[in-house]
Amino acid sequence: MKKIFFIIAVILIGFQSTRADEGMWLLSLIGKNYEQMKAQGFKLTPEDIYNVNKACLKDAVCGLSNSNYPLGFFCTAEVISKEGLLLTNHHCAYDMIQTHSSVSHDYLTDGFWALSKDQELPNEGICASFLMYMIDVTDSVLAGITDETKESERRSLISKRIREIEKKAKTDPDYNVSVKPLFEGNQFFLFVYITYKDVRLVGAPPSGIGKFGGDTDNWMWPRHTGDFSMLRIYASADNKPADFSKDNVPYKPKHSLPISIKGLEKNDFVMVMGFPGTTNRYLTSYGVQTAIENNNPAVVKIRDKKLAIMRESMDSSPELRIMYSSKYASTANYWKYFIGQTRGLKVNNVIGKKQELEGRFTEWYKKNGQEALYGKSLPEISKSYETNKQKSLAHTYVLEALLQGPDVVMFPLQCYQLNSLLANSPNDKEAISAMTADLKKEAEKYFKDYDAATDKKIFAALMEMYYKDVPAEYHLDFMAVVQKKYKGDFAKYTEDFFKKSIFTDKARFMAFLDKPTAKVLTADAAFELAQQSLSMYYKLQNTQSPEYEKANRLFIRGLMEMQPEKLFYPDANSTIRCTYGQVGDYKPADAVYYNYFTTVKGVLEKEDPKNDEFVVPAKLKDLILKKDFGRYADKDGNLRVCFISNNDITGGNSGSPVINGNGELVGAAFDGNWEAMSGDIFFENSVQKTISCDIRYILFVVDKLANAQNLINEMNIVQ
Ligand code: ARG
Repeated sequence: MKKIFFIIAVILIGFQSTRADEGMWLLSLIGKNYEQMKAQGFKLTPEDIYNVNKACLKDAVCGLSNSNYPLGFFCTAEVISKEGLLLTNHHCAYDMIQTHSSVSHDYLTDGFWALSKDQELPNEGICASFLMYMIDVTDSVLAGITDETKESERRSLISKRIREIEKKAKTDPDYNVSVKPLFEGNQFFLFVYITYKDVRLVGAPPSGIGKFGGDTDNWMWPRHTGDFSMLRIYASADNKPADFSKDNVPYKPKHSLPISIKGLEKNDFVMVMGFPGTTNRYLTSYGVQTAIENNNPAVVKIRDKKLAIMRESMDSSPELRIMYSSKYASTANYWKYFIGQTRGLKVNNVIGKKQELEGRFTEWYKKNGQEALYGKSLPEISKSYETNKQKSLAHTYVLEALLQGPDVVMFPLQCYQLNSLLANSPNDKEAISAMTADLKKEAEKYFKDYDAATDKKIFAALMEMYYKDVPAEYHLDFMAVVQKKYKGDFAKYTEDFFKKSIFTDKARFMAFLDKPTAKVLTADAAFELAQQSLSMYYKLQNTQSPEYEKANRLFIRGLMEMQPEKLFYPDANSTIRCTYGQVGDYKPADAVYYNYFTTVKGVLEKEDPKNDEFVVPAKLKDLILKKDFGRYADKDGNLRVCFISNNDITGGNSGSPVINGNGELVGAAFDGNWEAMSGDIFFENSVQKTISCDIRYILFVVDKLANAQNLINEMNIVQ
């Protein structure tokens, strides 16, 4: 049997130039991949994945987001019980766990488990969205638009039509709808989601399990991290989305995933469904070059500095360690990502591979007499990167050193609307007091995790770095003041700035909200700097030339025309996707072999009580030494921790369910591997892997370590 499947698979792979494992496929079009999936071991049908009329796999997968940006999914979660229990990663819930933590309740270090529903902790502002349906709206969006249509006209027509389609689709206040461009604007799809707004923390293992290996092991295989946590969706009595309320009840899902503890072996079929954030698979060689030389080193340099300052604070006091742990982890995650991406782009010769494709493209359009249509694309793209190098560097700096640099740059923007209200309707007492009440709530959350002394150091360092590294034409106005009034002394300027601003001290900010005036806001240096940063961001937002967009769109269209037999998938853009492939090992380097799973033996091998990244919780160690794994052990009596497969995922997929050929949950995806860190730009067939936590390790921790049988009993576990 296996052999026949193998032959079919080989034929299919030979027929289509995209390998089965590469690709983040749109759910409604998954039928096109069905033969391949079947050949690899998928036992269900495309309708079991996506179906508008009956419960299917998509109904068990949701995107996690913040309520102020409901379709900006930062992670994925899956429903694992009829009572709305969700499984996701530890690092996805890290900020929630941190928010509930203090020195006396340190859930980061010790873990947290609700042993009954009334112990579950509300997470203000966290949402979970399920896809209701999706449709191809390309024809309506692009009706009447041709290659001759002026770009400006094209743009305004498209945005007008998108607004209309979205408005029509929002038939319910709980729906969040979005029309997204695919293939750089060659196609458009409408996505309609239903968003639940009461999502509570149910459980998380100690960091010694959930973050075991820390930054050292992050983005690496072999891995021994139990990167999981559990949440629960609550809904109104009639199962509708509702704001947090004690009266809400556990959400009754359309579908929840059965869980298989039968285990996985090499070549087993696995599918991952989730919300990948961003990939740039169609980036040209010129774009890759800019990333390597220009933007990636800048991100790493800025984050290096920020991390060192945060580290110093965190080491100095237990309060600061908890306060900054979430900010630190997210900064470190993409700091290491960009180091790895630059390395991967070079080691995997991605520029060479892109140039090869661009060469074929050029040959193809010449041979087909398509020079008039496609001939200008690559030269335009190349020219744009060349001309806009400095601009794109400045864009990176505005994001990394300003808006996401010190906290004091972004926070004042929360007062943007209050400022216009105070300026335009100073007598509208009711509106003003409603707004200040909201701002007070925001301020409570913000200042809980804010240390002005730490932020001050980050501010002084990053402003000076921006000033020195970014060409003068992109400097902010306040920088001239630093030069003139402070003789270029950023530290001194920072002292004054922090001493006076209402945004650097909770008491001052709250006092301002008690008696808000436009005068105080406009005179505040932090408010001014925040606005300057934002306008610079807008100024640099379209980093490339006006011709670039069209050139890029045509390049991709050409690539598709050139390879009519190939199945194309659109770049990730935070919309729900499915990727399928197989469990398997790889060779990361000359003479090195990596197996496809890890076991708890490796947890003890890595243990180092003196290094906080490798501390093994005493109870875990005890269970491992006693080999007390219960029904979660593998055939050989050992307990597996993580496994790898050749699925195609990226950031945003974190927490995604790994599903076997029968539609059962077998793991939670949580990372990628070091050898393929360039994978968001070029999928590396021989070494690119998805790292997942084995569901049996997850259940072992819940059952044996946390003793949360209340949760185990909710699940549908198949042996
Ligand atoms: N690299 C993982 C991702 O982006 C996050 C892993 C979190 N662990 C950590 N040590 N920071 O999905």
